[in-house]
Formats: sequence, C-alpha cells, structure tokens
Amino acid sequence: MISRDKSASLFVTANQYFPGGVNSPVRAFRSVGGTPLFIEKGDGPYIWDADGNKFIDFCCSWGPLILGHNNPKVRKNIIGAVENGTSFGAPTVWENKLAETIISNHRYLEKIRFVSSGTEAAMSAIRLARGVTGRSKIIKFEGCYHGHVDALLVKAGSGLATLGTSTSAGVPEAYARETIVLPLNDRAAVEQAIEDYKDDIACVAIEPIPANNGLLIQDIEFLRFLREVTKREGIILLFDEVISGFRVGF
Ligand SMILES: Cc1ncc(COP(=O)(O)O)c(C=O)c1O
Repeated sequence: MISRDKSASLFVTANQYFPGGVNSPVRAFRSVGGTPLFIEKGDGPYIWDADGNKFIDFCCSWGPLILGHNNPKVRKNIIGAVENGTSFGAPTVWENKLAETIISNHRYLEKIRFVSSGTEAAMSAIRLARGVTGRSKIIKFEGCYHGHVDALLVKAGSGLATLGTSTSAGVPEAYARETIVLPLNDRAAVEQAIEDYKDDIACVAIEPIPANNGLLIQDIEFLRFLREVTKREGIILLFDEVISGFRVGF
C-alpha cells in the first residue's frame, strides 16, 4: 500500500485556506472518492505527489499539456520569455506572432481574441452572439459543459423545450431562464425550441467533441442539422472546442 500521508496532511492545511480545500471543483476528488493528491513535480508523462509516489498522468492539466510535463523546448522558451518580463497590460510583439501562427494554419478562423480561461471564452462568445443578434436566449445540450458562466450552470426544465433552471446556488433563476437545455441528437426538440422562442434565440452552443461525455464524437448529421437550422434562423452556432481544439488535430 503506498503512503498518501503527506497529501492528506496538505489537504487538512488547504482546508484552512480554501473552501473545500481546493481551488476548482474538479480537483476535489468528490466523484472518485478519497483525498486529493498534492503534486510536487512532473516530467514527460509522469507526475510525483508529495509522498514521492510516481504516476502516469492521464489528466495532463485537463488538456493543455499536450507535450507532457517539463518539455525541454517549451521550458527553454518559457524561461527565455520571462527574461524579458512577464506581463505588460499592453499589446506585445509575440501575440501577433501567435495569432498569425494559428490563423495561417486554420481555414475557418478569421479573428482571435485571447482570453485566460475556457469560461471566459464561452462567456465572451455568448455575449458576442447576443450583441450581434440583439436576442438574449441560448440553447445548450445535456452533457455538454461550457464553463462556470452563470447562464450555463443550468439544467433542463420540466419539458423538452422549456427554459432551464439553475444548478448552482448563487445563479439567479432569471439568468437560468435565458438558457434552454435540450437532449443531444434530438432534432424535433431543437425545432420546437426555435419555434417557441424564435425571435429570441441568440446562439446554439455545443461541444463538437464533448470532453465531459467521454470524448464521444457527436453525430455528424446532428451537427450538420444544427448548421443548417441556425443559418436559416439567423442564430449563431457556437462550437466550443476548449478541450478538443488543437488536440485532435492542429
Ligand atoms: C468544453 C469546455 N468549455 C469550457 C470549459 C471551461 O474552461 P475553464 O475551466 O478553463 O474555465 C471547459 C472546462 O473543462 C470545457 O470542457
């Protein structure tokens, strides 16, 4: 039996500082049981906890570490960048270069806005959709997660195309009612919602490869249907690729 005493003791300390002892619900181990591991270091595909146990890291910081931990090339470039300072609150030469690399390698992207988290990306995309369409409601699908934006911490109401109800204390029902949660792959439910709230739907949001659904690829015909129906109705179609983007292919 491997020891996890140090992690357990660090968790006791962390509980003094952070609600639930963690800074994100996904670190809490609630759905898998036990005490969170406190990680000390990572190298390549491995991580080590505070008790010195070595693990293969299948989490990879929930996605971003596609090159593994402590990759020599990445480390060298991070250190090189830090030597010129860290944050400026002003445009930088390097963000132009990064944008050019991404846009010139992607045939669908025209413009980019860099943000700090997936939640901000989803929130900004929804605000943009609302601004452009002048409408306020959004449609999302069961099993798809788009971050902890108030309007998205919502579960389905009692009927198929009914307005959502909030899943978290602190999210006003008035916000939740701006979101319609529908079952996946149910075209009739989408048509019904569009019919019922036609002049008020700003966007349809979906994860084309849902990370929180076991990375099962969505039905391509359903995605095509969403493209057609949103185009027809002047609704923005929002593909949330926060997890899958650049990972299933550059
Ligand atoms: C598809 C998707 N969108 C958005 C988010 C939110 O990203 P973040 O946790 O960086 O706010 C997540 C997080 O797991 C996600 O899986």
